[in-house]
Order: sequence, then structure tokens, then C-alpha cells
Amino acid sequence: MRKYLLSLFLFGGLLFANSINTKEWTRPSKIPAPKNNPITQEKIALGKKLFFDPILSRGNNISCMTCHNPLKGWSDADTVAIGDKGRKGIRNSPTILNSAYQYIYFWDGRAKSLEEQALGPLEAHAEMNIDVKEAIKKLKNDLLYKKMFQAVFPKEGITSDTLVKALATFERSIVSGQSRFDKFIAGDKSQLSDEELKGFYTFVNKGNCTVCHSGFRFSDQSFNNVGVDNKDLGRGKIKKRDIWNATFKTPTLRNITKTAPYFHDGSAKTLKEAVEFCAKGSRDKNSSVASILIDKNLSNEEIVGVVKFLHTLSEPIEDLH
Ligand code: HEC
Ligand code: HEC
Repeated sequence: MRKYLLSLFLFGGLLFANSINTKEWTRPSKIPAPKNNPITQEKIALGKKLFFDPILSRGNNISCMTCHNPLKGWSDADTVAIGDKGRKGIRNSPTILNSAYQYIYFWDGRAKSLEEQALGPLEAHAEMNIDVKEAIKKLKNDLLYKKMFQAVFPKEGITSDTLVKALATFERSIVSGQSRFDKFIAGDKSQLSDEELKGFYTFVNKGNCTVCHSGFRFSDQSFNNVGVDNKDLGRGKIKKRDIWNATFKTPTLRNITKTAPYFHDGSAKTLKEAVEFCAKGSRDKNSSVASILIDKNLSNEEIVGVVKFLHTLSEPIEDLH
């Protein structure tokens, strides 16, 4: 009997594997960039130096990398971000992987481009806590930066505009494609075990996770309340309408094994806890959770399968040299 069920699944699994729309799950190879900020290798190199350099913080002790660390899937291991003088922010640091392919940034979607986004962390007190004018002054006193900016932006040199353009260009260069899932989608079916494939099947079908975590980004960029917490208004604070209260941008699930803890407030310690929660909906019965988030009644085995599948989305650690 067991053997029969197994072969039934293997058959179903094969059918499922063959029915996958590979285009939907494949990252387009062309990286989008705004017309006034084309990607060049020199600009990536400048942006990379800036991204890893604490010169951009008031205390010369915090860089973008502090919270978006390549060893931690371009995120960090803190519940909420910890910035200048140990000040705590209110939200969990997201990964910057594939941020080129997004059109709305932050958990509440308050920025519409990477260029617009980059000034936020510099000036936030609980992050780098530096006035951008002060940051520019420091950069202008650095001979190497002067030379690099002059080469990349010969007309403008060091300005807040060129600073964010360089940072955004480096971020655009951080893209997915090397995970086992990507290799599987590209045609190497041996990359996923039967259990992982079954987890993917549950993710797409019974779990209905793709209503929100869809496509190669594993996010549709929409805003929903899955019932994590009602204290932070999320999108509601930006849109100033009650229906948006406590809604947050669907996070990508790429690199998810490296970016614990989970949710906008870092309240789920383990991936299993986050998956169980998202499969069930709210832990706060009074919150107005998204109507599509009904309890999927996933069994423990199905939850474990989905978690195993999500492990296949992790990129190998970047070789940054
Ligand atoms: C102290 C930690 C910290 C530092 C330093 C930091 N960030 Fe962030 N970053 C965060 C947090 C927390 C969020 C989410 C904030 C929110 O949504 O309100 C975030 C969000 C982002 C996002 C949006 C991701 C998305 O999917 O919406 C990008 C891009 C980003 N940061 C880039 C940068 C860059 C570039 C720097 C350096 C100039 C930087 N960060 C410095 C903690 C940090
Ligand atoms: C209605 C849209 C929706 C559906 C359906 C949905 N999610 Fe989510 N998911 C979200 C949102 C929004 C968040 C962020 C919530 C927050 O932080 O308040 C999230 C967060 C997560 C996280 C934590 C990610 C992180 O970086 O913190 C995981 C893991 C997750 N979902 C997995 C799943 C799985 C597995 C399913 C299917 C069983 C699923 N989700 C179904 C919208 C959805």
C-alpha cells in the first residue's frame, strides 16, 4: 500500500514538475534600471565600496552591510534593526536580493525606487543617523572617493544624487539565480528531492501561497494583513485609510533560511513557525486579516514539506572578490 501511494505521488510529482510554467519562476536576465542611472561596472564598484563603508554613518561604525550582510542572505539576524548608538528600529531588516526587480520598497511601500530609498537609512536615527550633507562632506575629504566619483560622474562629482545612484546601482547587481530551485527550473530536475518537490506542490496548490508569494521574486509586491500585529500601522500610515492598517508588503521568500527571525517585527523565530502562521492566518482573532488568508488546514507533514522546499531557495554565499 505504502509503495503504491509513493508511486502515485512520484507520478503526480512528475506530472506537476512537467506542468510548471518555467517562465513564471525565472528571473529575467536583463536587470531593469532607470534611464538616468544606467548600470556600469565602475558604478557598481563605487556603490559596493559605499555599501560596505561605515563612512556613511555619524559614528563611523555602521554601514549598509551591518543590516544587509551577504553572509546572512543580505539581511541580518536581529529581530528589529539596531543602528547608531544601539538604537532599536521598529522593523526587521529585509534582504536586498533582487531589489532591482521591485517597484515599491520598505515594508510599507513608502519608496518607489532604490534611488529614493537609499537616503532613508542614512538619515534615520535608528540606522546610520547622518545628515546627507555631512556624509557628502566626509566623502569629499577622501581622495579615493573623489577620484572614483569623478570617473563615474564626471559632470557632477559627489552629490546626494550621485551617492544614491551609485548605491542603487550596486544593489541592482545583487540578483538571484544560483539556488537549487533556479537550477531545477532551468531544467535540472535532480536538484529537488521528492520531498522538496512535494513541498513546492503544496506551496502552489493546497497552501495557495502563490496568491501572494508569486513568481521568481516570491512576492507580488501587494500589501496584506496576515495578522502578525496591529500596533504598527504599516501601509496604513502611508495611505492614511483604515483598510490599509496593519498591512505589509509581501516579503520575498528567497534566502529565507538565512534571514531569521521573520515577519516585519521579527516575531517568528523559526521558518516553520512563520510558515505555520502564514498557512493559518491570524493569531489575533480581532485583526482584519486578508480574506484570502483562510486556514489551509495543512498537516504537520505538509508544513514540514513546504519548509523543506523553501530551503531550496537559498543562494550560495556570494564571492565578493
Ligand atoms: C540599522 C540597520 C540598517 C542599516 C544600517 C541599513 N538598513 Fe536598509 N533596511 C533596514 C530595515 C529595518 C529596513 C525595513 C524598514 C521599513 O520597511 O520600514 C530596510 C530596508 C531596506 C531596503 C528595502 C528592501 C525592500 O524589500 O523593501 C533597501 C533596498 C535597503 N534597506 C538598502 C539599504 C542601504 C542602501 C543602506 C545603506 C545606505 C541600508 N539599507 C542601511 C535596516 C537597515
Ligand atoms: C494574503 C497573502 C499571503 C498569503 C496567501 C501567504 N502569505 Fe506569507 N506573507 C504575507 C505577508 C504580507 C507577510 C509579511 C507579514 C508581516 O510581516 O506582517 C508574509 C510573510 C511570510 C513569511 C516570513 C517572511 C519574512 O521574510 O519575514 C513566510 C516564511 C511566509 N510568509 C510563507 C508563506 C507560506 C508558506 C504561505 C502558504 C502556506 C504563505 N506565506 C501565504 C502574505 C501572504
